[in-house]
Amino acid sequence: MTAGFPTARPRRLRRTAAVRRLVAPPGVRPGNLVLPLFVKEGIREPQPVASMPGVVQHTRDSLRKAAAEAVHAGVGGLILFGIPAAKDGRGSAADDPAGIIQQALGDLAAEVGHDTVLMADLCLCEYTDHGHCGIVTPSGDVDNDATLERYASAAVAQAAAGAHMVAPSGMMDGQVAAIRAALDGAAFGEVAICAYSVKYASAFYGPFREAAEGAPQFGDRAAYQQDLGRAGEALREALLDVDEGADIIMIKPALAYLDVISRVAGAVSLPVAAYQVSGEYAMIEAAAANGWLDRDRVINETLTAIHRAGADIILTYWATEVARRLR
Ligand code: PBG
Repeated sequence: MTAGFPTARPRRLRRTAAVRRLVAPPGVRPGNLVLPLFVKEGIREPQPVASMPGVVQHTRDSLRKAAAEAVHAGVGGLILFGIPAAKDGRGSAADDPAGIIQQALGDLAAEVGHDTVLMADLCLCEYTDHGHCGIVTPSGDVDNDATLERYASAAVAQAAAGAHMVAPSGMMDGQVAAIRAALDGAAFGEVAICAYSVKYASAFYGPFREAAEGAPQFGDRAAYQQDLGRAGEALREALLDVDEGADIIMIKPALAYLDVISRVAGAVSLPVAAYQVSGEYAMIEAAAANGWLDRDRVINETLTAIHRAGADIILTYWATEVARRLR
C-alpha cells in the first residue's frame, strides 16, 4: 500500500456494470406496485385529467382495458376510485350496489379478478356534494361516528361487488375497527383492509381533486388529516390501525414523508404501503415536459427512495409503465 492513499475503497463495488449488478439489492418489483384508476359514471369517452398528463377518468370500458394492461405488465394490484354522476350530502353512491364504483368493481372482478388484487378506495369525498370525507353537521364539522356508519356500509357494498381489499382513506377515528366489524358481520371475513393510516393534510393532493372531483366546497381537511409537522403522531395512528385489525398500513404522501415511512416500517410487522400521490406525479411530469428533468430516471429514483425508506408496496400512477420497464 502506498502511504497516503486510502485503504477503504468503496468504489471497488461500483467500478463496472457487472459488479454493480452483483451487489444491487432487489429493489422495486412490478408485483409490489399498485395502479390507481378513476372511473366516471355517464361518460362516453375517457376524460383526460389536465393536471395529470397521461391519467384519465375512465369509462367502464376503458377501465377494463387499462386494468388488463396493468395486470399483463405484472402490476400487483389496482385501486379504484369512483366518480358518480350525482352527489349528495351523505354520499349515497358510495354504498349503492348500482353506484359506479360497485359496477366497475364487478367489471374488474370478472375481467382480472383472478390475476390481481382489487382494491377499492373507501371514502365519501368523491360522492358528497360538499366534498368532505364524511357526514357534515349543521355547524360544518365532520361527524366522526356518523361517518363510520357510512364507511361500514360502503365497505360491505364494495366487498359484495368483488373488492379483495378495501382502503379507507377518510382519516376518521376508529374507521378500521368499524369496517372490520361490518365486513365480518356480512360474512366478508376474507376481505382485507389496506388502511390509509398515516395521511397528512397535504397540498400534494391538488391534482387528484381534479381527477376525482372531490375538492372540499368549504374549509379544508385539516380537522381529520394529519398535521404535517408532527411525526410522532404517525406511529400512534399506525399502531391504532394495527390494533383495529388493519392488514396493510399505508402512508401518504410518499416523497416528502420518507422519514415517516421509515419509522412506521420499523415499528409494525404488517406490510407497509406508500402512496406516491397526484402532486408528486404532476410535478415530475411538468418538469419533464419542459425538458428540465430526465423523466424516467427521476421516476426510478423516487420509487427506489420510497422502497428504500421501507415501503413494501407503492401506489403510483406510473405503475404500468414502470412494471413494463422492469420486466
Ligand atoms: C380520498 C383520497 C384522496 C387521495 C386518495 N384518496 C384525496 C384527499 O384526501 O384529499 C389523494 C390521492 C392523490 O393525490 O393522488 N380521501
